Amino acid sequence: MKFFIDTANLDQIRQALALGILDGVTTNPTLMAKEGIKGEENIRKHYLAICELVGKNVSAEVISTDFDGMTNEAKRLSALHPAIIVKIPMTTEGVKALKWCSDNNIKTNCTLVFSAGQAIVAAKAGANYVSPFIGRIDDSNWDGIQLIEQIVHIFRNYDFRTQVLAASIRNPLHIVRCAEAGADVCTCPLESILGLLKHPMTDIGLERFLADYRKSQQS
Ligand code: E4P
Repeated sequence: MKFFIDTANLDQIRQALALGILDGVTTNPTLMAKEGIKGEENIRKHYLAICELVGKNVSAEVISTDFDGMTNEAKRLSALHPAIIVKIPMTTEGVKALKWCSDNNIKTNCTLVFSAGQAIVAAKAGANYVSPFIGRIDDSNWDGIQLIEQIVHIFRNYDFRTQVLAASIRNPLHIVRCAEAGADVCTCPLESILGLLKHPMTDIGLERFLADYRKSQQS
């Protein structure tokens, strides 16, 4: 399973990179706004900075809602850096844009996916990734992990090459459950990635090993 970090914060990306287990980054307009990135030129520069840091798999989202706008943005974004994957929302115009991108060798991530039906359409349109938002599904009292299982099952039935990118991760357990369900990628906040490393028995065990070592050195 690939690990992407879901942030536009360069510091957090550096921290995740330093672990040596990071495979990419996903951003969205909310995450970009959170970093205070304003204006087209600054947005482009920020995407470039992320691409130069990580070198691969950087999702950058279009903000147009019509086919022409989305495909123009897709052209501009993908020309920025080879690492760019254009994030396109699951709408009627979005599906047309996904197909156009696929026909024109532009990599895509279909975002805002909340049902298996939407995932099938995105795969048929040639999306490289589909992003089911499991945290938001859980928030609305449905089961996000069940959706990942369903999409993975369907894609395997038909050998769809589209990868299942579990998004809207809220905690480390979500990551583990997505791995069990066979998600190809998880995009996670830094805290959820770091949460995977933690176990109280590890801390207690290490403390005891070090105390025993110190004692053995005194006698
Ligand atoms: C996916 O690529 C989105 O950026 C993201 O996972 C949305 O997560 P949220 O529900 O925490 O906003």
